[in-house]
Amino acid sequence: MNRLDLFPDTTKINNDSLTIAGHSLAALADTYGTPFYLYDRATLDNSTAGYKTALASHYPGPASVTYAGKAFLCIAIAQWTQPHALYVDCTGEGEIAIAMAGGAPREHILAHGVNKSIADLNSAIQHAGTIVVDNIFELNRVKELIPNPQSPISIPQPPIPNLWLRLLPGVTVATHHTHTQTGQHESKFGMTREEILEAAQFCKDHNLPLNGIHFHQGSNFRDASPLKSAIELGLDLAKEIGFEQDWHFSPGGGWGVAYHEDELPQPDVNEYVRVIAENVIAGCQAHGLPLPHLHLEPGRSLAARAGVAVYRVGAVKRRGDKVWILTDGGMTDNPRHAMYGARYSCLPVSGPGGERSEVVSIAGPYCESGDVVIEDLPMPKILAGDLIAIPVSGAYQLSMASNYNGARKPAVLWLEDGAVKLIQRRETVDDLLRRDEGL
Ligand SMILES: Cc1ncc(COP(=O)(O)O)c(C=O)c1O
Repeated sequence: MNRLDLFPDTTKINNDSLTIAGHSLAALADTYGTPFYLYDRATLDNSTAGYKTALASHYPGPASVTYAGKAFLCIAIAQWTQPHALYVDCTGEGEIAIAMAGGAPREHILAHGVNKSIADLNSAIQHAGTIVVDNIFELNRVKELIPNPQSPISIPQPPIPNLWLRLLPGVTVATHHTHTQTGQHESKFGMTREEILEAAQFCKDHNLPLNGIHFHQGSNFRDASPLKSAIELGLDLAKEIGFEQDWHFSPGGGWGVAYHEDELPQPDVNEYVRVIAENVIAGCQAHGLPLPHLHLEPGRSLAARAGVAVYRVGAVKRRGDKVWILTDGGMTDNPRHAMYGARYSCLPVSGPGGERSEVVSIAGPYCESGDVVIEDLPMPKILAGDLIAIPVSGAYQLSMASNYNGARKPAVLWLEDGAVKLIQRRETVDDLLRRDEGL
């Protein structure tokens, strides 16, 4: 399998060195320093088009794609979502603020989260088009917080967001680790069938604008078949709640991507969308339901392959059979291997086509033995001072980055043909000190 196929669509080898969207990674490292991350706009656009084309060919009803901001959100990414008319899934007031700063309109902001704070809910009520309610406690809080339409106050109130209920389908999808499953019986997410019916009754009793059902079964799966019974359960509940026209149905996101050449080919988005669309259509017919507005919520499968992490090697250590490549990035910008054993691949920026003569492990500079990003990967010979590029780095890396050991989050670049934009500058020591008050 070709390791280069894991990289963004515009990746090429020029003069024996990696380029993306026509930009030399070595030259970018000289200009912006390392570690840095890049996003290739063409890959983001192409992934989005893949979802839209599949929806257009398989689903005759209204349909939208929501970008799951938890994969990685910053102002530039939020701005990029808007010409594509993407909704933005925002967890909490922080992501809502970023989406708004990037110009996402209220009707495109979807407020998610498993235990939303009062501040999260107030922000969602002010700025979101939809709140996806996770539990009954939260629903009670929403009822208390929304402006009472009967109140005599004459101040104009913003429109009240629509409410969807998050179903816990109790159906497990196969992901690479249990930490990325969310739909199984014992999960902390969402409501059981009985709780959904109780919540729906609560909405009726209190005149709350309930108009949708959502579930999300996990992240990075490549077998869509467990979605079928979850869709069936969701449609069954929609019927029982009594949705009629203009209702919304979101079977979440979670479609996988290949991180390692052993996992190629890429999971097929068209197949994923086909399974969802056909089951929603058939289920609606069986239940006598009108087709809902169908929302898909991909994060990883839009952003992961568009992103690349570029690190500089500082030292090479040989310990018996083990070869450690020590780099300037690691678990603080990519905790996924440390958290749940995620596998990655990698190429040297210079000489990427060289013979893979050595099996190496790639570790960062932080004070944890678990600060490892890649284990046991065949690579061409790597020397101190070389640059390496890790593909499929666009999702759940920077969004889970930390300042452990005083690490400063890397610079993030946006690459288009003929243009480079620094969309997030590297953090500085001043950034680290900014919140501190001292004694
Ligand atoms: C509610 C919800 N929607 C969408 C997603 C996106 O998942 P993925 O990035 O795997 O597509 C997640 C991720 O966990 C989620 O929790």
